Amino acid sequence: MKFQTAEPFRIKMVEKVRRTTKEERLKYLKEAQYNAFRLKAEDVYIDCLTDSGTSAMSNEQWSALMLGDESYAGCKSFYKFEASVKDILGLPYVQPTHQGRAADFIMAQIYAKKGKYAIGNMHFDTFRGNAEMLGALAVDYVIEKGANANNEYHPFKGNIDLAKMQRLIEEKGKENISVVIVTITCNNNGGQPVSMENIREVSKLAKKYNIPMVLDSARLAENAYFIQQREEGYRNKSIKEITREMFSYCETATMSSKKDGLVNIGGFLATRNKEVFEIANQLAIVHEGFITYGGMAGRDMEALAVGLQEVCEEDYLAYRINQVNYLGNKLKEFGIPIIEPTGGHGVYVDGRRFFPNIPQHEFPSQRLVVALYEEAGVRAVELGACAFGSKDPITREPIWPELETMRIAISRRVYTNSHMDVIANALGYIYQNRNNYKGLKLIYEGNITSLRHFTAGFALL
Ligand code: F0G
Repeated sequence: MKFQTAEPFRIKMVEKVRRTTKEERLKYLKEAQYNAFRLKAEDVYIDCLTDSGTSAMSNEQWSALMLGDESYAGCKSFYKFEASVKDILGLPYVQPTHQGRAADFIMAQIYAKKGKYAIGNMHFDTFRGNAEMLGALAVDYVIEKGANANNEYHPFKGNIDLAKMQRLIEEKGKENISVVIVTITCNNNGGQPVSMENIREVSKLAKKYNIPMVLDSARLAENAYFIQQREEGYRNKSIKEITREMFSYCETATMSSKKDGLVNIGGFLATRNKEVFEIANQLAIVHEGFITYGGMAGRDMEALAVGLQEVCEEDYLAYRINQVNYLGNKLKEFGIPIIEPTGGHGVYVDGRRFFPNIPQHEFPSQRLVVALYEEAGVRAVELGACAFGSKDPITREPIWPELETMRIAISRRVYTNSHMDVIANALGYIYQNRNNYKGLKLIYEGNITSLRHFTAGFALL
């Protein structure tokens, strides 16, 4: 008899969370100008704004912290961290950074070039921002089925469209493509995985034209788990065998350790190219810290060395992916439209189909974020008209994105399925009353459109 499995851990320490009244929440929302980023975390009951830096550490990670060696050069903790990264990625050179975007910065300095294209499945904001500041052209070539929130099934909606990539190379000339970056899993469209076949084929195509390939690998273990579960030929491979194969196809990898590192801070850049490593070292010295700490405390490198090993455990990954899927299924029972199949680190609700009566310029997904906090004290994040909207550089006319979603990001090892039930029931209630909601008006956005969601202000219509 096969019993249902539960969390593969016991809860040893707890953090109290505060419940608030609807009246209080309405006041906080008004003060925050209806922007969830501007709410205080202590006023949030279940925080699903991000899965980044929010993981619960294990007892083994907490013990590892005490072994931290806080020296500057040749720090003992660095070597443990480096060995753990090499074990999982198989790349020989590792430069720590204080978090993922610092690795993105270094990577962009090396690989993004003024007036040249950086092809990606969907570039994460921090690489895009860095690339654009350098005058590079960051383009998203995710496959058609991954580019929208309708429910056509595909097991790897994070894949790059190879034909599109080939076409751009032929049209613009290989000398005008400076890099191809595959984000695993693809954060912007649902934490959707990229298949090994796609990683391999992208790498082959890139090699043919001498274009370097980079993996943006914040959620590397979740991607490996999907490959193991969904891709022909990988069922009997271990997670580490899969991660090593994934990274065997790239020249360089960047990592935000705040996700699949199971720690609260940290990042790194790893590469097989010695010259790239040497430039990364110099950039790190100027911006991050010496080669053997890169802005991280020894204790944080210790916890990360352990976290990277724990994240590859199959019991953990099965629990992790099942929890996200559990929430997705609950939402579907209420008829709520989500991106399917659910991905690795959260459930993405389709704002367009949820609120068909709220047009995109009135921010339907942001309205949903506001409603969810108002009803249940749950904080999610908009990935739609506000976060992904842009403006025509000449006319300044708004350009609305294809994807219009609310992401419910699930922190690792933090919440139980009872919390998932609270989220689902609240959204079910809102969905039943969806015709009573009106949209929002953007009243403040700052100068840089691509960063406006962090500080934007809204008013209720
Ligand atoms: N790459 C990806 C794919 C990410 O999702 C993130 C962060 C980064 C790079 C940057 O890493 O935060 O350590 O500097 N994503 C977070 C999120 C913020 O909520 O999705 P960082």
